[in-house]
Amino acid sequence: MQFPIYHSPDMREKRVTAILLAAGKGARMGGPVPKQYMDLGGRPLVCYALEALGRSAVIDDLVMVIPDGDEGYVREQVFPQVDPAATGKVRAFVPGGAERYLSVRNGIEAITWECDEIYIHDGARAFIDEATLERLYEALQDPGNHGTAVAGMPSKDTVKITDAEGFVADTPDRRNVWIVQTPQAFHADLVREAYSHIEELIAQGISITDDAMLVEHLSGQCVRMVEASYRNIKVTTPEDILIGEAFLK
Ligand code: CTP
Ligand code: MG
Repeated sequence: MQFPIYHSPDMREKRVTAILLAAGKGARMGGPVPKQYMDLGGRPLVCYALEALGRSAVIDDLVMVIPDGDEGYVREQVFPQVDPAATGKVRAFVPGGAERYLSVRNGIEAITWECDEIYIHDGARAFIDEATLERLYEALQDPGNHGTAVAGMPSKDTVKITDAEGFVADTPDRRNVWIVQTPQAFHADLVREAYSHIEELIAQGISITDDAMLVEHLSGQCVRMVEASYRNIKVTTPEDILIGEAFLK
């Protein structure tokens, strides 16, 4: 396999750790192989996000959150298929939790080194690109953005908010509707603080589906959306494998 050399711009000012989440069950994908290790274009799915983050000029260190006991498998079956420049940035393997937010919390707690910013990324988003990472980095440096920068895209569809019975309660103006993706990037102190209050939100019965929600609920900080790419899909159901293979062609 060929790994072309990446000429990085100078992104050295802030020390950035990325948490790569790959400890899910892949229930919606189904199939015998766990989603993170499923074949996509000849490599396990998780290889793509690992390589993109690890080769990025923005990212200094990586934490991989994986199923308990999988470190040997990842080192032997995944790492050889990824640019060594990328795997060389992995500083910790952490076992995931039962829910995504618990996996994130484990990832945050594993960061024992110096770090100014934390980027949280779904391992299932194989098509994260360097330009998006650099836009997130730039946005995070702007003091007006209050220490957050969240990848997403304007919604192509009109969105309806319903009540519990399925009747439409509201139709937000599509121009203000975004589909949220990852990476979600934060000043390290802010995301650490937000995650330290996670039990309170769970006790309130709030379903935590992304990391920015915690910051929204707990810190009163504004969360800044940053345009990513319509290709930055989360490989979730079998159709997404077909779409992913088309992107790779
Ligand atoms: N994830 C994780 N720990 C969990 C749940 C999810 O690390 N307890 C990770 C997944 O591995 C994935 C990302 O978070 O890379 C986004 O989750 P999702 O796409 O929902 O993956 P799964 O939870 O594995 O899939 P499903 O919800 O269909 O079971
Ligand atoms: Mg899930």
